[in-house]
Amino acid sequence: MDIPFNKPYIGDEEREAVAEAVEQDILRGDGPTTNRVQSFLEDWLDVRHALLTTSCTHALEMAIMALDIGPGDEVIMPSFNFVSSANAVVLQGATPVFAEIRPETMNLDPAAVEKKITTDTEAIVLVHYGGVACDMEAFLDLGERYDVAIVEDAAQGVDAYFNDEPLGTIGDIGCYSFHDTKNITSGEGGAFLTNDEEIAARAEIIREKGTNRSAFYRGEVDKYSWVDEGSSYIPSDILAALLEVQLERRDEIRRKRKQVWSAYRDAVRPFVDDGLIEWQTVPEYADPNFHLFYFRTDTPEERDELLDALKAEGIQATFHYVPLHSSPYGRNILNCTETLPTTQHCSETLIRLPVYPQLSTRIDKVSEVIIEKMRNKLSSTTQSI
Ligand SMILES: Cc1ncc(COP(=O)(O)O)c(C=O)c1O
Repeated sequence: MDIPFNKPYIGDEEREAVAEAVEQDILRGDGPTTNRVQSFLEDWLDVRHALLTTSCTHALEMAIMALDIGPGDEVIMPSFNFVSSANAVVLQGATPVFAEIRPETMNLDPAAVEKKITTDTEAIVLVHYGGVACDMEAFLDLGERYDVAIVEDAAQGVDAYFNDEPLGTIGDIGCYSFHDTKNITSGEGGAFLTNDEEIAARAEIIREKGTNRSAFYRGEVDKYSWVDEGSSYIPSDILAALLEVQLERRDEIRRKRKQVWSAYRDAVRPFVDDGLIEWQTVPEYADPNFHLFYFRTDTPEERDELLDALKAEGIQATFHYVPLHSSPYGRNILNCTETLPTTQHCSETLIRLPVYPQLSTRIDKVSEVIIEKMRNKLSSTTQSI
């Protein structure tokens, strides 16, 4: 493809940092670089505990384990979702319960969630879709009233905010992704964030194969052993070195992504005004990180036509997610029978355009294809009236 959907933004500083990192005596995780990056995240985000992880998926698995969620428990989440939070719940023998989203942000709808809360509900895992904050005030209120944990899947929400508070630091646990499709990347990677001391202590053990090796390294115990369930969720210091440079460049990355995002907004605004498409609303409380630019067409057929037109010009646009309740696993294994019409319609009409810092010089090419297609649609609509 002439214009791929995503391109990691890697420069000489990242290359030098990785070259230096492989020369160090410590290549495993939790070495000096990991510790430095974790401290940086804690200061920058004003969060008590930040643990680097091998992925956001693993941070979500840690979250479900740290909350002691197991058989008989239910966890509410959007069906319009990546698979990771649902897998994390299923892996512990608990049940994911899928709730509706709000069409204007594609974020979980607090009112729909409230209707799904039962005495078995232990947590709500919300997704800040495209780096636009969920209505955290409403979710914190639900958490308090029903005594359920709030987990923020902020995979797409690094350097995005809810009323000035960094996403991922507002609920009981936050999970970040540094996958190479995300704004800030170490190739693969993630972070587990919490302000809760008890959760942090358990997470540290879960992340270190169920052992208290971290306490041993700090000199708090004279030997380490198996103390809880866990797995191997610690990334190498080499990845932490790459991440450290990316975090230093966060303002530049955000600024360049915003340029692309704003140019798309300007290009498609007339079609939004004409009611031909709908775009992502950014609520007043949300300060986004320009992770995604998407809009929705009226019908799935229109969406597919547009995708084809872009592809013919060498532009890779995409859609996602296949709603989890209607996926093969959801239908055949979880026996999901709910209908979630907003989720279904939104996912079938969604189109995501390429967004990455290096794209700023090529946005016109993408916009031209969309503008032409939309103009054609507009004239055919006018003719048929
Ligand atoms: C909402 C959401 N959650 C979780 C993940 C998984 O992140 P990772 O690839 O770091 O495991 C993704 C990845 O795209 C995502 O978009």
